[in-house]
Amino acid sequence: MGIGSSFYRHVVKPYYFSKDPEEAHESAKRFLRNEYPAKLMSGYFDYGKDRLSVNLGGTVKLDGPVGLAAGFDKNGEMLNGLGSIMDYITVGTMLPYRWEGNPKTKQVLQTTVGFSGSEWAGNRQLNVEINKIETGSRVVRMEKERAINNCLGFPFAGPEVAFQNLERYSYRVPLNASIAVRPTDDPLHAQERDQLTALIGTLSYFVGTSIRMVEVNFASPNTKGLAVFFNGDVFDDMARCVLDNPGLDGCLFFLKMPPHTDEQTRERNLRVAARWMELGGDGITAINTLRTEDQRLSMGVGGKSGKPIYPILKGNLKDYNDNIGNRKPIINAAGGIWPENVPELMIEHRVNTVQLFTSIMYEGFAVVRDAKAALLRAMDSYGIDRLEQIRR
Ligand SMILES: Cc1cc2nc3c(=O)[nH]c(=O)nc-3n(C[C@H](O)[C@H](O)[C@H](O)COP(=O)(O)O)c2cc1C
Repeated sequence: MGIGSSFYRHVVKPYYFSKDPEEAHESAKRFLRNEYPAKLMSGYFDYGKDRLSVNLGGTVKLDGPVGLAAGFDKNGEMLNGLGSIMDYITVGTMLPYRWEGNPKTKQVLQTTVGFSGSEWAGNRQLNVEINKIETGSRVVRMEKERAINNCLGFPFAGPEVAFQNLERYSYRVPLNASIAVRPTDDPLHAQERDQLTALIGTLSYFVGTSIRMVEVNFASPNTKGLAVFFNGDVFDDMARCVLDNPGLDGCLFFLKMPPHTDEQTRERNLRVAARWMELGGDGITAINTLRTEDQRLSMGVGGKSGKPIYPILKGNLKDYNDNIGNRKPIINAAGGIWPENVPELMIEHRVNTVQLFTSIMYEGFAVVRDAKAALLRAMDSYGIDRLEQIRR
């Protein structure tokens, strides 16, 4: 553990972890919105780039393989701070409209039964009170497991706000725009395609300058009915709507994959990932959170992230590496990644980049540097001089 992680663990984390996770994230935002604190530390994060640079698909060059996963900066508010820390930033998930996300509280009916008056005086009566108690959160921690469960459901401040934030970004590292649309009741899904096209229209202003990658997210467990976009023709139409949009020319296209833990989902994921590549996608980002019940959450169910999903990520990566044929996908790995996992992901599983989220919540941004240090040590022991020498 480096000095940075130790400082975070003993000083910063106790402060953040004394707050509700959503509130803690708001405090972190205040710090990262401003580019200067992170710029002051940029020497600390600017690490190993002569050996760790990455070239994605011959189009996007990164100083290193460590990116930020979707959901941390949904509105692009922290880009200037994050740009001094990460090798690339996933911004979003952005929707075509402003959206509150799932409710922050749930209502629980509680019945209280009691008696008033006195039996002796003959005026005893039964009282029944029905109270509505509001409870629940959208993000909860499981500290022992080093995990988080969230049911945020894509809160997003709207394309106008994101546009302003993207305009304020003084470019340091490429952006990966995570985009999605919520299903409507249009059986032909033309409405969703129109909405997606409108969002792409807004984002196209930044394509080629800051936005170099697009990550399509039809994989969240927190939006009801989203999986419809993974079905046969519906998938083809939605995918083409993104891949064939001239506003995104020159971008690399990734599909965010949900985790698979059973045979049926495995088959579906492999089929969809292969189809994505046939239609012109460049790669995948695996994996999103794992649907998990938790009565502390306002929805009673959410998506689990962090250490418990790392074994699932490794199994899923093996499936993609073994089964997707003709054109090999570029693979961004996400899912419970801690610094010590990065060498095996990059060297054995041959992923192209890693994306961090929950490890940052638990250990702070020092994990970015720690991940690179672990990777460089492993490269030394394998006699690998530069990351680009590893065949993918
Ligand atoms: C609070 C929270 C919000 C998230 N929001 C999004 C999102 O908006 N879009 C998305 O594709 N993934 C989202 N994710 C999933 C992450 O991008 C990532 O795939 C997942 O958390 C696994 O990585 P991790 O274990 O390192 O966190 C979110 C995760 C968390 C914990």
